[in-house]
Amino acid sequence: MMEDRLKQQIRELLSERNAVLLAHNYMRDEVQEIADLTGDSLGLSIEAARTDADVIVFCGVHFMAESAAILSPGKKVLLPRLDAGCPMADMVTADKLVALKAEHPGVPVVTYVNSSAAVKAVSDICCTSANAVKVVNSLPDKEIIFVPDRNLGKFVAARSDKNFYYWDGYCPTHERLRPEAVQKLKSEHPDALFVCHPECNPAVVALADHACSTSGMYEWCRKSPAKKIIIGTEAGILYKLKQDNPDKEFILASPALVCPNMKLTSLEDIRDALLSMKPIVSVPEEIRVPAKQALDRMLAIPR
Ligand code: 13P
Ligand code: SF4
Repeated sequence: MMEDRLKQQIRELLSERNAVLLAHNYMRDEVQEIADLTGDSLGLSIEAARTDADVIVFCGVHFMAESAAILSPGKKVLLPRLDAGCPMADMVTADKLVALKAEHPGVPVVTYVNSSAAVKAVSDICCTSANAVKVVNSLPDKEIIFVPDRNLGKFVAARSDKNFYYWDGYCPTHERLRPEAVQKLKSEHPDALFVCHPECNPAVVALADHACSTSGMYEWCRKSPAKKIIIGTEAGILYKLKQDNPDKEFILASPALVCPNMKLTSLEDIRDALLSMKPIVSVPEEIRVPAKQALDRMLAIPR
């Protein structure tokens, strides 16, 4: 079969190049299937920082490959689709963040990893959805600036006694899930639990039995006694959820929960990237060094 041949070719190229294939939990099924490691943003950052491969093939979106390049400067980081971006990450720029910091002198900036390297470089500490509450509560300050996700910011603020200055960014994919759609599904499936990502609108999070990162969702769904679970995050998560829990039914909360950027990377793109060793994602040293400091501070906080 065509797909099997492609997968075999990719596996051979990975070993020839001493490369590791990392894939985010939202990637297409066939990409997750062939990856050396799948994970959430935090898990993939940890792996990118400690792998001894010469090459990291990052199947995800641009900011994730950038984080790998920041953390592993000696390695080649390939992003098979350079056009796989994140609209939320593009909602904040370093210049605009510097201007906001000037309005609040001395207030630390906590930056969600869904952001550019340049934005991380002018931040104090990064966070992911898996550790945002811990990161914020680890700071001694009474006030924080949280960028760029206003929804994750509000989720964390509800679990902290600090005063937040939010950036008005959001994930267009998660924002498309409306509370009315969740209410409707809940009334059609009264025996189902509802779990969602904190990138969802606060009105959606308010309806959830639990809100967590994508890998957190695997753990929660595995442990949950519920036989039916409504899922409020990007559709790619269903691949492993169904595989790991054949006895449970998962209902995607909305057909609109598809991130077009996360769906770009195909097996052909991965093969071509390994053949040409392009496109490479790299970060200039003057940005990489301060950005690494913000990521390292985050990674020092136990998961
Ligand atoms: P996590 O996998 O870290 O929960 O992130 C979700 C996401 O939107 C990545 O783009
Ligand atoms: Fe960005 Fe949302 Fe897509 Fe994640 S799911 S890459 S936050 S647009």
